[in-house]
Amino acid sequence: MKIIVTGSLGNISKPLTKELIKKGHTVTVISSKAERKKEIEAMGAKAAIGTMQDIDFLTKTFTGADIAYLMEAGGPENMFNKSYDLNKATTEIVTAYKKAVEASGIKKVVHLSSVGAHTDKGMGLVELHHIAEGILKQLPNDVSIKFMRPGGFFYNLLVNVEIIKTLSKGLLGAIMAIRYYGVRGFLQGKRGVMVANYGGDNMNILVSPDDIASVISEEMEKPFEGRSVRYIASEELTCNEVAEILGEAIGKPYLKWPAISNKMLANTMLKRGMNEKMVKGIVEMGAAARAGKLYEDYYQHRPVLSHTKLKDYAKEFALEFNKNN
Ligand SMILES: NC(=O)c1ccc[n+]([C@@H]2O[C@H](COP(=O)([O-])OP(=O)(O)OC[C@H]3O[C@@H](n4cnc5c(N)ncnc54)[C@H](OP(=O)(O)O)[C@@H]3O)[C@@H](O)[C@H]2O)c1
Repeated sequence: MKIIVTGSLGNISKPLTKELIKKGHTVTVISSKAERKKEIEAMGAKAAIGTMQDIDFLTKTFTGADIAYLMEAGGPENMFNKSYDLNKATTEIVTAYKKAVEASGIKKVVHLSSVGAHTDKGMGLVELHHIAEGILKQLPNDVSIKFMRPGGFFYNLLVNVEIIKTLSKGLLGAIMAIRYYGVRGFLQGKRGVMVANYGGDNMNILVSPDDIASVISEEMEKPFEGRSVRYIASEELTCNEVAEILGEAIGKPYLKWPAISNKMLANTMLKRGMNEKMVKGIVEMGAAARAGKLYEDYYQHRPVLSHTKLKDYAKEFALEFNKNN
């Protein structure tokens, strides 16, 4: 089949492209950068250089293809861009996708969404996925759409590399160690914690981008009919279990992940100069995880877990943690 992959050679799109080519499909990868062309072609795919916002470019690229994998880029790299509006930027991309799907006549779409996309109430940052699904659902009924709703990517946990290091040092490190590991733990040299506005026994639905790619490539070869939703997860772990696995990998087997207040988390991020709307979104999303609301629809449609485990990813986490140590 002729398949369009958006998201360039990103975390999901690269393994997806590799898998689709291996299965004998003709793949066109969309990248915004001309210098990516060589790498894309070296994988055996065609490169289409242009942006997700460019309706004419997208229409031309989609025309004649059987399936398009659609994702919206843009979040993390704009964390410190104070004028960035994530929902607005996402709406612009998805609206361009919608127009290009209609104009090109492509009939099968696989869309990258997220857990939490089932509602626009209290989901914070992931509200954008609810908005995106809503726009694509306006496409004519003869366009079949598979909405992929993965959990949190393993790589999100990398934010803890800096947190653990910062909360290990100096007076703050000593205070945190005494608070969470006791005086005895402190004297034994236990240092560092992971933190968010959820923690302890709160659940994490985690996923490897490679597993997402495998599920997407599997779905592309199955029949398409109407609109469907599939959740994707590699692990269901409490924050304590996550801390234990990552702690073991970085030589801190005692590592804990306690929850801090919404206010404390927000203030910390704002002080670092992060985009105010994103901070609000991150805090609200964490609060939804803490209340169990983020995953309520996931548990109603629980998938078979994919094969990559956090223990596998922990090696990568440890490499990052040990950089510049
Ligand atoms: N993090 C999570 O826990 C989580 C959970 C659920 C869903 N998601 C969703 O997952 C997605 C991220 O997926 P990913 O990690 O595979 O992506 P990624 O690695 O960030 O790759 C996205 C790629 O898109 C390309 N790109 C950026 N702007 C573009 C533009 N304007 N036009 C064309 N291409 C552009 C870039 O490559 P070039 O430089 O080559 O153009 C970029 O590397 C987001 O939509 C996010 O909301 C994330």
